[in-house]
Amino acid sequence: MKLRMHKIPVVIFAAAVVASTSCNFDKSTPGFEYMPDMYRGPAIEAYQPDGGALKPVQGSIPRGHDLYAFEDSPEGYDAAQAALKIPAQFHLDGLSEEKKEKVMAESKELYNIFCTHCHGEKGDGQGILVKNEKILGVPSYASAARPDINEGTIYHVIHYGKGIMGSHASQMTQEERWKVTNYVLKLRKDLDGSAAAE
Ligand code: HEC
Repeated sequence: MKLRMHKIPVVIFAAAVVASTSCNFDKSTPGFEYMPDMYRGPAIEAYQPDGGALKPVQGSIPRGHDLYAFEDSPEGYDAAQAALKIPAQFHLDGLSEEKKEKVMAESKELYNIFCTHCHGEKGDGQGILVKNEKILGVPSYASAARPDINEGTIYHVIHYGKGIMGSHASQMTQEERWKVTNYVLKLRKDLDGSAAAE
């Protein structure tokens, strides 16, 4: 008991030290921080040590990216020619006449925006840029001129471009490309028809 009584002044002294040092009378600082990491978040490095941005997770696909199975190479072209068909949802067969006309009108509009200046309205390779000799070597879509092109190669060429024809992949959606492919096939048929009539 004697011993405990002895300790009372020590406890009072300790409490006084804590009380007098724990308060901060400088109003311009926050004083003691009990959990500093709640005041200051750890700085997460968004950039790698080599200075580049962090890479997306392996296998991620950009939003809106369309997977296209064929490579930009002569082998890819041949493969598209052999295997790439108009997907069922873009087929014209089976549509009502009215619907077919509407889709064809939209397809023609797209073709006139993206292709006519080189390939010509009829697809005979006589666009305004060819007539003005700004661009050479634009083929006609007619079978006699290009027996080898088909729905697969047309789509492939719109996707990647060919020679001085640039890729249209960034300007046209998949649906728009299939519409234009349909329209090129129609022009080809018309060209073949008028050649046969002559
Ligand atoms: C800047 C002019 C230009 C534009 C625009 C253009 N083309 Fe071409 N296109 C060419 C030229 C030149 C070639 C010949 C390329 C070659 O064989 O080197 C060609 C080739 C083609 C071919 C034949 C490819 C083959 O298999 O050899 C197709 C089909 C075709 N274009 C479709 C289109 C369509 C559809 C559009 C519109 C979406 C389009 N082109 C827009 C210039 C153009």
